[in-house]
Amino acid sequence: MGDMNKFPSVFESIDDLTLEQIRSLLTVSAQNKIRFQDRQFAPYESYRKYVVATSFLEHSTRTKHSFGLAIQKLGCMYVDFNAEKSSLQKGESIEETLLTLWYQGVDICVLRTSVSNQFSEFKNNPPIKLINGGDGINEHPTQALLDLFTLIDQGLELDGKTVTIVGDSKHSRVTHSLVRLLPQFGAKVILCGPKEYLYEDKNVELVTNLDEAIAQSDILYMLRIQKERHNSPEYTKIYESYNQNFGINLAKLKKHNKAIPVLHPGPANIGVEIARDVLKSELFLGYQQVVNSVYTRMAILMAMLENGDKTIGHKPVRL
Ligand code: NCD
Repeated sequence: MGDMNKFPSVFESIDDLTLEQIRSLLTVSAQNKIRFQDRQFAPYESYRKYVVATSFLEHSTRTKHSFGLAIQKLGCMYVDFNAEKSSLQKGESIEETLLTLWYQGVDICVLRTSVSNQFSEFKNNPPIKLINGGDGINEHPTQALLDLFTLIDQGLELDGKTVTIVGDSKHSRVTHSLVRLLPQFGAKVILCGPKEYLYEDKNVELVTNLDEAIAQSDILYMLRIQKERHNSPEYTKIYESYNQNFGINLAKLKKHNKAIPVLHPGPANIGVEIARDVLKSELFLGYQQVVNSVYTRMAILMAMLENGDKTIGHKPVRL
């Protein structure tokens, strides 16, 4: 494999990957699922030498724990770096913090931050290998990859299909990764929601009426309203009528005779964007997304740990 095929050492965006690399992650995710789903703990011997850390500067249930499980199932040593109790609180920079982890022997740090595009500054001279576990409103590439794997694993063909992402796509880092990924597999992406919440991108079509969007859709992807990222009244005035206008329930799907898969990255606000009857129905793939998250994140870790990059870490300036 030449340099062209080298997996990135700082994985910030879906755009960091070639289509070939994405396909290989999907293949390895499927292999991991077969190998590990019977719950037998059979780590890969060759990964025992690696150390992987998670550092979450924003709250998380699914992403952090599925990385923790993926790391341990692979057989790597796992360090959960508690950012809230660290010297970051004493004003130390992220770069010095990451270098400290590197000097302590950590190979990869999975980082979640509220700062959009925080990873870009590390791309030229990575202090440590880095995986974006969600950076502000920018991207959440590992979520998009596990979503794609879930669709394919369900036997769903994306080519020529329409995926509608419903909700606050403007503030959704998950959406910003999905719109870079799904069209590469032939899917058309519609973003549906109140116009104030819609993300504009060359790869998508915008629809402000849910019925109109459902009628055209083969797959629905529901989003949580990103209230923590709303600072203006134009975003908050929509909350009251949101469920009525953009929430999904079985009756709305039946009206269109659409028994189509419904995805959600979690955490869901039941009764807001999604009704319990959808969540508890066989149409809902949210729990499969959780199952698959471990296998896809294992595949990403494997590719990055073994990318052969020797340029990581601190290089003291010669005087
Ligand atoms: C998402 C996130 O944190 O971006 N959740 C996740 O990682 N599964 C979506 C959200 O918070 O709404």
